[in-house]
Amino acid sequence: MFINPRRLADLSLPLIIVIAAMGASRSDIRRHDNGLARTPPMGWNSWNHFGCNVSAQLIRETADAIAASGMRDAGYQYLTIDDCWQVARDQKGVVIADSARFPDGIKPVADYVHAKGLKFGIYTDAGRLTCQRRPGSYGFEELDAKTYAQWGVDYVKVDWCNAEGIDAPTQYAKIRDALLKSGRPIVYSICEWGSSRPWEWAQQTGNLWRTTGDIADRWNSVLTIVDLSSQYWHVARPGAWNDPDMLEVGNGGMTREEYRAHFSLWAMMAAPLIAGNDVRTIQDSSRQAAATREILLNKEVIAIDQDSLGVQGMIAQNSPPELQVWVKPLADGSRALLLFNRASVPTTITAAWERVGIKTRQARVRDLWAHTEVGTAADRYGAIVPSHGVVMLRVWPVSSP
Ligand code: GLA
Repeated sequence: MFINPRRLADLSLPLIIVIAAMGASRSDIRRHDNGLARTPPMGWNSWNHFGCNVSAQLIRETADAIAASGMRDAGYQYLTIDDCWQVARDQKGVVIADSARFPDGIKPVADYVHAKGLKFGIYTDAGRLTCQRRPGSYGFEELDAKTYAQWGVDYVKVDWCNAEGIDAPTQYAKIRDALLKSGRPIVYSICEWGSSRPWEWAQQTGNLWRTTGDIADRWNSVLTIVDLSSQYWHVARPGAWNDPDMLEVGNGGMTREEYRAHFSLWAMMAAPLIAGNDVRTIQDSSRQAAATREILLNKEVIAIDQDSLGVQGMIAQNSPPELQVWVKPLADGSRALLLFNRASVPTTITAAWERVGIKTRQARVRDLWAHTEVGTAADRYGAIVPSHGVVMLRVWPVSSP
């Protein structure tokens, strides 16, 4: 079911929820369910900051930093080595790690990550070669799944380069079956960039699926991804999430307001929160490190992403289109609201209770970036929102006596 997000503002929120629930019950019948990722996966991945420059030492230092900085306790759990760890296959076809970068192979790295109270993820490709032309899993699906299980892999990201002539739903299902057969619970992250409309089939296959091409550390990239991924809000549910790609927070290409907006939008979209910065510097005394910590460790915003109801937020008001109000229903009956200013000047944005599905006249409002109670507001709430910025709220209906 596809609903043009621009028309969402015309629908009442109760109707939107009914439509979402219809989608949920229909797809639940045939959904792939490995029992994992009941809330969107959280963790860290090497690609956005380090590219091919991965090593056992980097992974160990990153695991140390995630544990020491409070990121682990905030929920960042899966630590994933992306492309370039692998160089060849042995005579039996078993994939071999780069011995210069991983001198003892992958298993001791996974053991180290586990000893830090974290989970370990790895990357492969459904085609013949990875995007960096390392061995892909095509033709080696079961052997690779078995090898990963032996190493203690808890999460696998499967890319889509060098897959000409291969059918995505079929090939990704083959890997799903191989992972299930391995006997180890492994979160399955499908990364085919939205090229074969995964929102129509990947719920039967994986725990998350990329909806777009790669993110870049630029504001325009965030906007492009948000406009695409928000269209598929109705297919997300516990165990099966749209993936608008990993976070760029802390990588330096956006302002503090833009990074706050990026993180808030990902939380509203119930997106996987996979940090992509150098977390080894997150405890530095610099202003940039402090800003990165304030964002990645905002537990009130993380709680919106991780809410157990598992509904992806949607655009409730977007007129004019640069000034949006997003809403995400939450398990306790409250709603997260995002006032999102895409314009180049600070502007007041007002959320109207009737447009965001709040049925009482009065509602209690909390500001999730200021960490303050705003008070009780009648019928609506408006605030000045910085350019390229957000005001993120949690709103509880208050019944009148
Ligand atoms: C693709 C993926 C990225 C990353 C790189 C690695 O571009 O979409 O997330 O994994 O490959 O080569």
